[in-house]
Amino acid sequence: MDAATSATGIDMGVKIGRLHLRNPIVTLSGTCGYGDEYAPFLDLSRLGAFTTKSVTLEERKGNPPPRIVETAGGMLNAIGLANVGIDRFLAEKLPVLAQLDVPAIVNVAGHSIPDYVTVCGRLDPIETVQAIELNVSCPNVCDGLVFGTDPHALRELVTAVREVVRRAVLIVKLSPNVTNITATARAAVEGGADALSMINTFVGMAIDVESRRPVLANLTGGLSGPAIKPLALHLTYRVYREVAGPAGVPIIGMGGVQNWKDAVEFMLVGATAVGIGTAMFRDPTTPLRVLAGIEDYLRRHSFTSVTQLIGQLRPKRDDPPAG
Ligand SMILES: Cc1cc2nc3c(=O)[nH]c(=O)nc-3n(C[C@H](O)[C@H](O)[C@H](O)COP(=O)(O)O)c2cc1C
Repeated sequence: MDAATSATGIDMGVKIGRLHLRNPIVTLSGTCGYGDEYAPFLDLSRLGAFTTKSVTLEERKGNPPPRIVETAGGMLNAIGLANVGIDRFLAEKLPVLAQLDVPAIVNVAGHSIPDYVTVCGRLDPIETVQAIELNVSCPNVCDGLVFGTDPHALRELVTAVREVVRRAVLIVKLSPNVTNITATARAAVEGGADALSMINTFVGMAIDVESRRPVLANLTGGLSGPAIKPLALHLTYRVYREVAGPAGVPIIGMGGVQNWKDAVEFMLVGATAVGIGTAMFRDPTTPLRVLAGIEDYLRRHSFTSVTQLIGQLRPKRDDPPAG
């Protein structure tokens, strides 16, 4: 039995570009640190892949507090890309990640094309870095917003990064804060992305009515959690049908996944892998529960491989036959 085959004999392996994952469940950037923080709570070797917090060229303190607030069915965060910077990431964090027996997706953010190119160029030769995910959609840093919402800027960025990312799988993480997400998805694919991850958080805000002030010091933050799942699912469906499916580019679907049904929904609309973020704060073992549930579902429906779910959404019962 290889690492991707479950005890029930079902093949749980998926491929994101050249990267083989032992199963489709990945943790999401910014919700699990750099790996060492979660290792005591969750056997990371059970994951398909681990995604790091965004890494930038310079170390960043991020936004002042309060930078997190709970909302109905979700949370708003305005962390502002607090991170150790590429030098300390390579010296202190990556060696720990290398010990964890899980493919590492390193998430990269920046203020300019040269920022991204420098950081990605330093990461690409390192074998532990199996994939690089570009965060072009963080709503808290204004330069990031430009790349994530403007197809021309995004194509230019991805093309420039592709020049230096020759070995690692290149994933572009899409922003949902656009009118037409298929335009940015297409720009990322044309720029040379091996895969798309979708989606980042939706811009939102919360008000303290007693003080009549915004709750977050940053005024706005990114909404994540169950509240965004139907929106994320629809965007994944659209991008799979109109861009990623026809181009043969895999999608890592994410946004509000809490349980196995959520994960199966994302795979049916076209995701090859599924990310879990906000749910990790409530229960760090969520990925294991989700995996067990997916396997049980596959067994009940007599599937032999998890890949048989990808894009297999059926038409509504009363839809007229095609043709
Ligand atoms: C506290 C927090 C911090 C995040 N930080 C990052 C980040 O540094 N880079 C990034 O690309 N996405 C970041 N995200 C977005 C998540 O990776 C994910 O795309 C989003 O939260 C939707 O998934 P979820 O609803 O399962 O959390 C962050 C999300 C949260 C909640």
